Amino acid sequence: MIEVLNLTKNYGDRTAIDNLNFKIEKGDVVGLLGPNGAGKSTTMKIITGFMSPTSGVARIGGFDVFESPLEVKKKIGYLPETPPLYLDMTVEDYLRYVAELKLVPSAEIKKNIEKSLLKTQLLSVRKRVIRNLSKGFKQRVGIAQALVSNPEVLVLDEPTVGLDPKQVAEIRELIKELKGSHTIILSTHILSEVQATCNKVIIIHQGKIVAQDSIDQIEKMNQGFVTLNLKTRAAKNIKLILEKIEGVKSVSASDDLTYVIEMSDRADLTDDIAAEVLKSGAGLVELVRSKNQLEDVFLRLTYGQGVNQQENHQVTNEVLV
Ligand SMILES: Nc1ncnc2c1ncn2[C@@H]1O[C@H](COP(=O)(O)OP(=O)(O)O)[C@@H](O)[C@H]1O
Ligand SMILES: [Mg+2]
Repeated sequence: MIEVLNLTKNYGDRTAIDNLNFKIEKGDVVGLLGPNGAGKSTTMKIITGFMSPTSGVARIGGFDVFESPLEVKKKIGYLPETPPLYLDMTVEDYLRYVAELKLVPSAEIKKNIEKSLLKTQLLSVRKRVIRNLSKGFKQRVGIAQALVSNPEVLVLDEPTVGLDPKQVAEIRELIKELKGSHTIILSTHILSEVQATCNKVIIIHQGKIVAQDSIDQIEKMNQGFVTLNLKTRAAKNIKLILEKIEGVKSVSASDDLTYVIEMSDRADLTDDIAAEVLKSGAGLVELVRSKNQLEDVFLRLTYGQGVNQQENHQVTNEVLV
């Protein structure tokens, strides 16, 4: 459904995305996951035809995004980083305006507006002026405008950013409801968002894809590794001491008291680590095993230092910080 081949975008001499390749099948819900600045919005602007790449190809339903822009725009509903809302219009008038812009046949406009108002639970505010709506409702209007042409593909750029926890939960519910009737690609820097809504993930870091697979497979990449989170009472630099324990692969310190220790899952080093911490006089506040496999993989691919080069996935040194 979505096909991206060797896609590269340079802004001046800065490479925002570097030779991306991925395919998204019909019905998939894919999370484009990466820290800020990874290149998520750039990728989305290109596959929706809003920006041209420096090189490479993007196709939607077999149509090249730049050779057949009209065909592609008909197939896609896009929620950009900043939705292009006309604040002085009512919700309903705005949706009609977008439907007309997108050349929805006039016989279908009314039906499509009703459907997208219903799906995004905006029926009660249809006559309200957009300016007066809360941020959560404005975001729903953004999604409603993406839906109003009844597109096969939905491209949602950080759909929950800036919302409060209740609104986040509502938007996630909405995305789950849209599953099945649309192929969806959404971007996020929040890992739990991908786990809550997607069946596949593409992890992007500094403009490159560092992993892409089903959530299950990505979690399996971490097999053989265990991460321990350590908190000490006193600020003593014990990184070197921890690294010397046999079986420990890497230690990273986020501050003087907090460490992330990566080790092989074949060795249970909890006792050894606790003993060394106590011996050093740093004092033990917490030593817990990380329970979230996907989080381990994500951290390792985007922030980690201890990547094992023997592992068979698309990780190279140059993509790591
Ligand atoms: N219009 C632009 N001009 C120059 N650099 C840009 C522009 N837009 C984005 N960038 C840079 O490209 C990189 C990727 O940005 P972006 O695609 O917005 O990332 P993300 O959406 O993952 O946060 C960043 O380093 C960003 O600073
Ligand atoms: Mg972005």
